[in-house]
Amino acid sequence: MQIEYEEHGDGIPLVLLHAFPLSRRMWEPQKKALERVKVRLILPDLRGFGETKSTADTNTMDEMAGDVADLLDRLEIEKAIIGGLSMGGYVTFALYRLDPGRFSGLILCDTACAADTDEKRENRFKLIKKIEGSGSQALIENMLPMLAGKYTKENNPELYADLEQRFAGTDPQAAIGALRGMAARNDSCDLLSEIDVPTLFIFGEEDALTDADMGRKMHSRVNGSELCLIRDAGHYSNLEQPEQFDQAIISFISRQ
Ligand code: MLT
Repeated sequence: MQIEYEEHGDGIPLVLLHAFPLSRRMWEPQKKALERVKVRLILPDLRGFGETKSTADTNTMDEMAGDVADLLDRLEIEKAIIGGLSMGGYVTFALYRLDPGRFSGLILCDTACAADTDEKRENRFKLIKKIEGSGSQALIENMLPMLAGKYTKENNPELYADLEQRFAGTDPQAAIGALRGMAARNDSCDLLSEIDVPTLFIFGEEDALTDADMGRKMHSRVNGSELCLIRDAGHYSNLEQPEQFDQAIISFISRQ
């Protein structure tokens, strides 16, 4: 599938993959900050999100990874620093399994290498039923309170309201397709010890879904990797504390 994307700047190719149920628009704060470094920033919309339409029943992480590989082929990019946040991280792991030679670096944010537990899978199927009943509005009450950090809830009502709008605006079919895809994803923890490119982990300290301990564990299994914990941020660390987040990736990229 040919996915939509945007690109900015010249320099080291850097691909950032968005979280669920957002789109490439989630990288808006980073677009501005990354003007300060020499990067060719590539921001895809994964299947079903943003401008990439999909009516499939299931969109797997492997399919999304294949789309990103095809996009890199189209752009004639042999190697890139590739990173993703949460679902974007699951897709990054799937792409690493598919084609490790594509990577000149890895940025894994608020994500997990493990597949879903049975309980998580069940919860996804329950959420799918709710979306079938009441549309994407169901994403707001069932996910957002856990994703936004305490600091954001108490101090950044604008961001919270903006996320509510973005959740509500998600195509229900795309949300269902990705929820099924996430439920079916492979466990990627065996890849960690094989990673041999510079790797940065970024985790919001208040992330309740993919918590900082997960970040610490993955970091301890990737040789030479770095871990940056973002203060006063939950799951969407790049949106909740863009300055700290930007500084972490800019400092990482500047050293490559
Ligand atoms: C995301 O932020 O991409 C998703 O919430 C991840 C998930 O549900 O596992």
